[in-house]
Amino acid sequence: MKNQEIVLTGDRPSGPLHLGHYVGSLKNRVILQDQYTQYVMIADVQALTDNFENPQKVSDNVIEVALDYLAVGIDPTKTTIFIQSMIPEIAELTIFYLNLVTVNRLMRNPTIKTEIKMRGFEESIPAGFLMYPVSQAADITIVKGTIIPVGEDQIPVIEQTNEIIRTFNRIYQTNVLVEAKPMLSKVARLVGLDGQDKMSKSLGNAIFLGDSEDVLKKRVMSMYTDSNHLRVQDPGKVEGNVVFTYLDVFDTNVEKLSELKAHYQRGGLGDVVLKNYLFEILNELLTPIREKRKILAQDRSEIMKILLKGTAQVKVIAEKTMNEVRTSLRLNY
Ligand code: TRP
Repeated sequence: MKNQEIVLTGDRPSGPLHLGHYVGSLKNRVILQDQYTQYVMIADVQALTDNFENPQKVSDNVIEVALDYLAVGIDPTKTTIFIQSMIPEIAELTIFYLNLVTVNRLMRNPTIKTEIKMRGFEESIPAGFLMYPVSQAADITIVKGTIIPVGEDQIPVIEQTNEIIRTFNRIYQTNVLVEAKPMLSKVARLVGLDGQDKMSKSLGNAIFLGDSEDVLKKRVMSMYTDSNHLRVQDPGKVEGNVVFTYLDVFDTNVEKLSELKAHYQRGGLGDVVLKNYLFEILNELLTPIREKRKILAQDRSEIMKILLKGTAQVKVIAEKTMNEVRTSLRLNY
């Protein structure tokens, strides 16, 4: 028997998914799908809010992201995977929610504030981008999601969703909308290869789930270690050393890892040896994912079929929710 709560989550298809997504959310979804009714949305409409000049990129990545989902073990018989733009009810619901939100409140949303800065939108913010939290409230409520697995950076968006839900239920004197709780990943965000920021495609510091063995090796070899560790015999730093940060996450041999750390700190352990050790661990993790992805990618029409099937299931639920919403809004003519 599955838990009654409904899990809704998703990703913007602005690129293929990487190791940071794997530890932060994908791995968790594979577990959650056995415990909950889980919906995973490919947020192409949201991806267009900051990629409106690159529609082909967004469209192409819908399949790439779906391949990543399936390759890591998100099972379409357990998880409903769907395409946001194919549920126009989400857009419709967004319009009604926009009445319940002020521009000032959106500008004060910490998630939006940071993202506006990151994209250099300060001078002129596209209205669609500014209001994406409202659209995200519609994503969540259209299936009445109650558990929303997200990264820490998305918490203000869930808070704003709940404000909208409460305002809607109060003004229209209804209880059709159900509040949602964020579910935080236990693993903190994975740092990028450069050690500067979190792993992200746009920063070019990522390891993608579909990377070949050669590319994986190159990326591991490019990892930041300790800029003062010039000769093998020199003592090296573990703190802030990306290779050790990754080993902390991926190496299950705790004893060996603490030995390696001690060896590195006292000197005599070279970066290449250390990186080769990490490469072996990551390659063991990624090889089955990479191979499954490659096989799945041979028949993209089959992937689209899976997405259309999931979308059709959500469509039924979305229509039902919209009927209730329209009734609450006295729009049931
Ligand atoms: N904003 C999320 C991100 O950038 C993606 C997303 C869109 C989402 N709609 C959602 C996540 C609904 C959780 C629930 O990663």
